[in-house]
Amino acid sequence: MMGRKAVNLILLVALCGIAAVGWTVQSDPSKPNDVFLPNMVESVPYDAFAENPNYADGKTLQQPPDGAIPRGAVRLHYSTGTEEAKRAGQELRNPFLLTDTEAVRRGSVIYSRYCGVCHGGTGKGDGPVAMRGFPPPPAFTDAKSLAMTDGELFHMLTYGGENMPSYATQVSQEDRWKAILFVHIIQQKELAAAAAAAAAAAQAPAPLPSPAAAPPAQ
Ligand code: HEC
Repeated sequence: MMGRKAVNLILLVALCGIAAVGWTVQSDPSKPNDVFLPNMVESVPYDAFAENPNYADGKTLQQPPDGAIPRGAVRLHYSTGTEEAKRAGQELRNPFLLTDTEAVRRGSVIYSRYCGVCHGGTGKGDGPVAMRGFPPPPAFTDAKSLAMTDGELFHMLTYGGENMPSYATQVSQEDRWKAILFVHIIQQKELAAAAAAAAAAAQAPAPLPSPAAAPPAQ
């Protein structure tokens, strides 16, 4: 059996050991602690914005080569203006169909994020931005909007119009086509609602004569 003194000595040594470890481990949260196997903490490759001696300009992030386009993107050979919009209208086709529910669903997400602020939820041109002084766009059910082909609409979203800004940097080409599908869904809904309202108005009974027209009570 170990004597009581020996046990106390062992406990004292252990206490001193713990105190020493506690003292070496920093309690200042603004400074990093000692790290075991630091290669797991520090990145071996160059960080995106770190200096890099391997390139002439000393940067890790390099400019893409001239003429590079994002993956999946199609190079567009158009410029701004109505003539170019007409040419896009003849040459470009929407790669997605209105029957593609997944594409329409994605189009509705894009529309509510980027387009409704000006065009409004039902495409009447009454979004909050248009209500606060921005030149309001025409309703999607205007004859001019209905006559525009998908290619012309794509040109409008890509290069902008008279007042409509370009959405080429914010919305990918695929998503632009899908947003156009959703514009068609809005057009269909609004036209159907207008037709139903017109039919209801035609069927409504003639208004009753107003009380003022009745002979005064005796
Ligand atoms: C900052 C406001 C604004 C935003 C945001 C906006 N538009 Fe427009 N849009 C306009 C204006 C204004 C017009 C009218 C044509 C013009 O002035 O160029 C227009 C025209 C259009 C037209 C053709 C209608 C016509 O008769 O000219 C379509 C379709 C359209 N926008 C769809 C979209 C889609 C889809 C988005 C989202 C990706 C979008 N717009 C985002 C302002 C906006």
